Amino acid sequence: MGPRVVLLALSLALSVQWTDAETRIDLGGKWSLTNGNKSITVPATVPGGVYTALMAADEIGNPYMESNDVNYRWVANDSWTYSRDFSMTKEQLASKNILLICEGLDTISTVTVNGKTIGKSENMFVRYEFDVKNVLIEGTNSISVAFSSAMKYALSKWKAHTAYDVPPDCPPDVQHGICHPNFIRKEQSSFGWDWGPAFAPQAIWKDIRIETFDCAVIRDVVATAVPWNKKFQVQPWAINITTYFELGSNTGCKGTVTAEFPELHVSHNATVVLTKRQTSFSMTFQVQNADTWWPAGFGAQPLYDLYVHFQSSDRPAENSTKSLKFGFRNVELVQEEVPNSKGLSFYFKINTRPIFIKGANWIPADAFQERIDRDRLTNLLQSLVDANMHATRVWGGGVYEQDAFYEICDRLGIMVWQDFQFACAMYPVGEAFLSSVTEEVVQQVRRLSSHPSVIAWSANNENEVALRQNWYGTAKNFSLYQKDYVTLYIDTVLKALNKENSNLPSVSSSPSNGPESQKEGWVAKDPGDPHYGDVHYYNYPADCWDVSVFPKPRFASEYGYQSWPSFDTLETVSQMGDWSLNSSFSQHRQHHADGNEQMMTQIKRHFKDSTSTNTTQKFINRIYLTQISQALCYKFETEHYRRLQSSIVNGEGMTMGAVYWQLNDIWQAPSWASIEYGGKWKMLHYFAKDFFAPLLASGVEDDKGTLSVYVISDVDRIFDGMLNVTVWSWDSQTPLQSVIKMFKQFNKSAEPVLVRKTSEILSTHCAKRQSCYLTFQVTGIQPQLASPINPFFLSSFSDAEGIKKPNIEFDVSKNVNNTFSIQLTSDATAPFVWLEAHGIRGRFSNNGFLMNQRKRVELFHAWENTTVDALTEALTVSSLMDIYQD
Ligand SMILES: *[C@@H]1O[C@H](CO)[C@@H](O)[C@H](O)[C@H]1NC(C)=O
Ligand SMILES: *[C@@H]1O[C@H](CO)[C@@H](O)[C@H](O)[C@H]1NC(C)=O
Ligand SMILES: *[C@@H]1O[C@H](CO)[C@@H](O)[C@H](O)[C@H]1NC(C)=O
Ligand SMILES: *[C@@H]1O[C@H](CO)[C@@H](O)[C@H](O)[C@H]1NC(C)=O
Ligand SMILES: *[C@@H]1O[C@H](CO)[C@@H](O)[C@H](O)[C@H]1NC(C)=O
Ligand SMILES: *[C@@H]1O[C@H](CO)[C@@H](O)[C@H](O)[C@H]1NC(C)=O
Ligand SMILES: *[C@@H]1O[C@H](CO)[C@@H](O)[C@H](O)[C@H]1NC(C)=O
Ligand SMILES: *[C@@H]1O[C@H](CO)[C@@H](O)[C@H](O)[C@H]1NC(C)=O
Ligand SMILES: *[C@@H]1O[C@H](CO)[C@@H](O)[C@H](O)[C@H]1NC(C)=O
Repeated sequence: MGPRVVLLALSLALSVQWTDAETRIDLGGKWSLTNGNKSITVPATVPGGVYTALMAADEIGNPYMESNDVNYRWVANDSWTYSRDFSMTKEQLASKNILLICEGLDTISTVTVNGKTIGKSENMFVRYEFDVKNVLIEGTNSISVAFSSAMKYALSKWKAHTAYDVPPDCPPDVQHGICHPNFIRKEQSSFGWDWGPAFAPQAIWKDIRIETFDCAVIRDVVATAVPWNKKFQVQPWAINITTYFELGSNTGCKGTVTAEFPELHVSHNATVVLTKRQTSFSMTFQVQNADTWWPAGFGAQPLYDLYVHFQSSDRPAENSTKSLKFGFRNVELVQEEVPNSKGLSFYFKINTRPIFIKGANWIPADAFQERIDRDRLTNLLQSLVDANMHATRVWGGGVYEQDAFYEICDRLGIMVWQDFQFACAMYPVGEAFLSSVTEEVVQQVRRLSSHPSVIAWSANNENEVALRQNWYGTAKNFSLYQKDYVTLYIDTVLKALNKENSNLPSVSSSPSNGPESQKEGWVAKDPGDPHYGDVHYYNYPADCWDVSVFPKPRFASEYGYQSWPSFDTLETVSQMGDWSLNSSFSQHRQHHADGNEQMMTQIKRHFKDSTSTNTTQKFINRIYLTQISQALCYKFETEHYRRLQSSIVNGEGMTMGAVYWQLNDIWQAPSWASIEYGGKWKMLHYFAKDFFAPLLASGVEDDKGTLSVYVISDVDRIFDGMLNVTVWSWDSQTPLQSVIKMFKQFNKSAEPVLVRKTSEILSTHCAKRQSCYLTFQVTGIQPQLASPINPFFLSSFSDAEGIKKPNIEFDVSKNVNNTFSIQLTSDATAPFVWLEAHGIRGRFSNNGFLMNQRKRVELFHAWENTTVDALTEALTVSSLMDIYQD
């Protein structure tokens, strides 16, 4: 394989033709993979990991099938060596510097070239660079990356740490996990989690290549923009472009750096003198005419190509280029005093506009990173935006996501809250560990800071609260662990972050109290204090229909309830015999203690259990009930947070973010996710589309029977409108009556527009609460706006009277492209109508809805090619009453 030459053809007048002459020899592709005792040798693809290689070679079956996560533990316990040959030419060998660049090794490995050890790895989040100039030869060379077992390594590190315990030692038994993930810089959830399996893979999980150069190559480019003059809103921008160079063994080198935005007709250059001590170079200049990048729902996402080019002054001239897509936006995290409340606010301003953050938390999309391609990421992130969200939090127990993830977020207008990868544990703070963490922080911050999507950093997930609330038995030695906490997150992680001038807000933990945590020695007395920072809130025993149980925080960054994924999704990893809620399969998949019981308890408060006598059908019905129950819980809780965005109630409130736990799944199992493994939307995700709608009418009834119907608006316009509260009877498809409230000049984000006794609204039209329900809708007259129609239930479904078993028919026709129309006809009001296209990937326009009209049309957006006949064949329609036998 020869040098790869990248041609960047720039069309505009200002542009020059740049040839990337820095030579790269890509070592990706076919390798060979052998286990410790050499009993197994299989071909392997790089980038890639051991499990997928073994699967491809039929050495193992599907690791997600039934209990294979535990059956295949031997794979994680073994040690695996990747090897291959490659060739080098005389010209390549003549370069002054020859480096082996390993973008990601997971995790513990020794790298050998031509029989000589050239280096080791111990942190999957770090790029390793090894000098191979003196070990390469002309012609055929060999390389091997010998991994050792991450689970054995973690155990040995734990054993060696004799001074004091660094808990937790092992995940709870219910997770079937592996012990001591905190002793290894590796995806923490790969040792098991309450929603995921433990595989602890070994992998060359990112690119691996050889680079040759004489003078220097550009390693990283960090571009940040701030308003040039703070007094003006955003234009013009001051952009700071810092270029980081790799010099290899050179002591010095000279050249020219050029930064160019071709579309903006902006180009700047400067002469740089690089030395061992000066390996980066910053230039700051003004950009006048860039359009502003906005989160989805607030404006467009203009992205401008930025090329940074280095040309050495050596002869022959050598050059190196890095390009990225840049978006101009400004981020502020406002933590200031709040009128009529103790504590501090916690909200984000994007381009000077305060924004209520609507989002969901992100976990790794697969246990095997090599299976996550751009299409899968696009599908998941597009689904997030399609459900009216614009933010995600890359949670601290997974990975710093691949570049494609952030590129897609940039393009779709998704704001990313990025955790550093530490979660739910104490961590060791030995010198080697800390220096590895520093390198990790520096590299990741440089890699991610130029993305307009990335708006905040957090040093860890839940470690402040874990320490304060003694989750892992640290209380007896609190000050010791507090000291370690400060050493790791404040003096190491945040210190390294701040040195990098990433220009973004950061918090010391999630949840945390911001400046108040700092005042209290970084471990606040109550890290979940609603008066400060963000809050994580879970309460399984409480009735989620009772919104008075929910906190009134400044920002809700985690909350949720579990459900089961659909039968179709589970069927791919299970078989008959597994299909009931109390099968050993269902117990094994449930990694959250008492999770299945908690779901049934929540369900039985408001629904009768399915009466089906067919075990499989009963399982399917119960899955459906878990999804209904979950969707409702998040609806109640999220609307509660949105209603509170402009009010202070007893000193609490002004909630400016609802980021639920969790968007996606790592495998097919019960979890808090709104999207199943494979991309299918659960009922919750359809509900999210409505409860996060830019304009919404949302009601809350107090214990004295007073109903407050709020108008909630993310619309950046003052508008005149109408609130429509309609009373319906369960046994009819005709509304009983409507209460209409006109309003003028609505300029708030959330305010009650109608406050009235529920009994007055029902008046004489509805004799009994149990036989009726309400719907709310707000419409804007100038400009024309409409919220979704939002149902409000007046009793539990187990008490509701008059719901008939409907007969629902459907008719499919083709729209454009892969979108199909489904005309539904029902002879009775049907709650939670559920459409499924078995075996055809795609999503509906709405689902899980209350059908209270005779006819209704929904769309199916297929993610693959299909036909009217195939969809008609695959489609089923059911609703609540179908789970009860007559
Ligand atoms: C980059 O280097 C190559 C190879 O030395 C050379 O052909 C090309 O002209 C250089 N590009 C620029 C813009 O200097
Ligand atoms: C070699 O390793 C495999 C996989 O870990 C194991 O099943 C086998 O028993 C080992 N063989 C010997 C001879 O140790
Ligand atoms: C891992 O291998 C060790 C021997 O190296 C053995 O003692 C241990 O039982 C194995 N553990 C698992 C889970 O296979
Ligand atoms: C650097 O910029 C100056 C002024 O814009 C221009 O005349 C010159 O050609 C540029 N030099 C390089 C090497 O691009
Ligand atoms: C630009 O960024 C670099 C690197 O973070 C920093 O050292 C420098 O002070 C910044 N320049 C300006 C003008 O902000
Ligand atoms: C039980 O229900 C499943 C799922 O609906 C169905 O496929 C199966 O045929 C039913 N079994 C019997 C015996 O009716
Ligand atoms: C209020 O909503 C109900 C139910 O959707 C509808 O039938 C009625 O026409 C609406 N009233 C007005 C004035 O729009
Ligand atoms: C149908 O697909 C074509 C090609 O991808 C696209 O240009 C067009 O906008 C699509 N039409 C609709 C209505 O989505
Ligand atoms: C769907 O069909 C179109 C036209 O026949 C084809 O270009 C496209 O690749 C197909 N898409 C998929 C996902 O199979």
